[in-house]
Amino acid sequence: MAISVTEIGATYVAEIEGVDLSAPLDGETVAAIRQAWWDHSILVLRGQSINQEQHIAFSRHFGELQVHSVKDWLLPDHPEILVLSNRGRGGVKPLDNGGAYWHSDMTYEAKPPMGSILHGLTVPPEGGDTLYADMYAAYEALDDETKELIDGRIAVHNYRHRYMKMAKGGKRPQPSAEQLAQWQDTEHPVAFIHPESGRKALYINEGFTVAIKGLEPDESEALLARLYAHCVQPQFIYAHKWRPGDIVMWDNRCTMHCATRYDVAKYERTMHRTTIKGAALCHVAAA
Ligand code: SIN
Repeated sequence: MAISVTEIGATYVAEIEGVDLSAPLDGETVAAIRQAWWDHSILVLRGQSINQEQHIAFSRHFGELQVHSVKDWLLPDHPEILVLSNRGRGGVKPLDNGGAYWHSDMTYEAKPPMGSILHGLTVPPEGGDTLYADMYAAYEALDDETKELIDGRIAVHNYRHRYMKMAKGGKRPQPSAEQLAQWQDTEHPVAFIHPESGRKALYINEGFTVAIKGLEPDESEALLARLYAHCVQPQFIYAHKWRPGDIVMWDNRCTMHCATRYDVAKYERTMHRTTIKGAALCHVAAA
């Protein structure tokens, strides 16, 4: 099957046409999609009418799947699928504006995910876009002094901080002892070399990065705040406006994303996400 790859809006985002994910894919098509994914960090496939098994089967072409530690959001029969739905579809707990903060998925894992594949099932007619930041471009645009400051440094990531913040606000149930034990600090380079593209990218996110090692807490906080503000400048952002049936697949290592708000009382927004396991990241050596 010949696919077409067209850049949309930004060089790091492409739309793939000529693929029907409800039918089995041949090796050549999978290889072409994989290559397009390394060339463009974000791929959009419109109008995909697929069931859960087909979503999982497509995702498995790119690696083993990562199951989220919060079981309340996983489809009971298909725990590889995380449901982001304000109506709590499929027997999962409702999740209003679940990913409405800048993050990359599950960076608190020792081997953080390489990518995620999100399927828009029911989308609001207004609001609820997903914003994506290009972390290659954000790294490349840093001044030399900042690159020197961060290259070779390590950041600490943890899910506990984010979850407890939501739990204190009444937006999440209290975590179990098992979850708390699972949410340990993990360390990743602040800037890393992407194993497929060889390009350097920033690897910090507001969701889960809690500190930069080797800096005083206030210095670390100030540097992270400065880096976050830098990454979300308009020139680094692609805003995806969802249509029902859209698939967006992003390279989780060189992008951050943030769901935007919508009227949760008026509209339904139901998305299914799979996440693909990755490998440990290789840091940019200090100058
Ligand atoms: C996510 O944070 O993985 C999902 C983003 C979205 O719901 O738009």
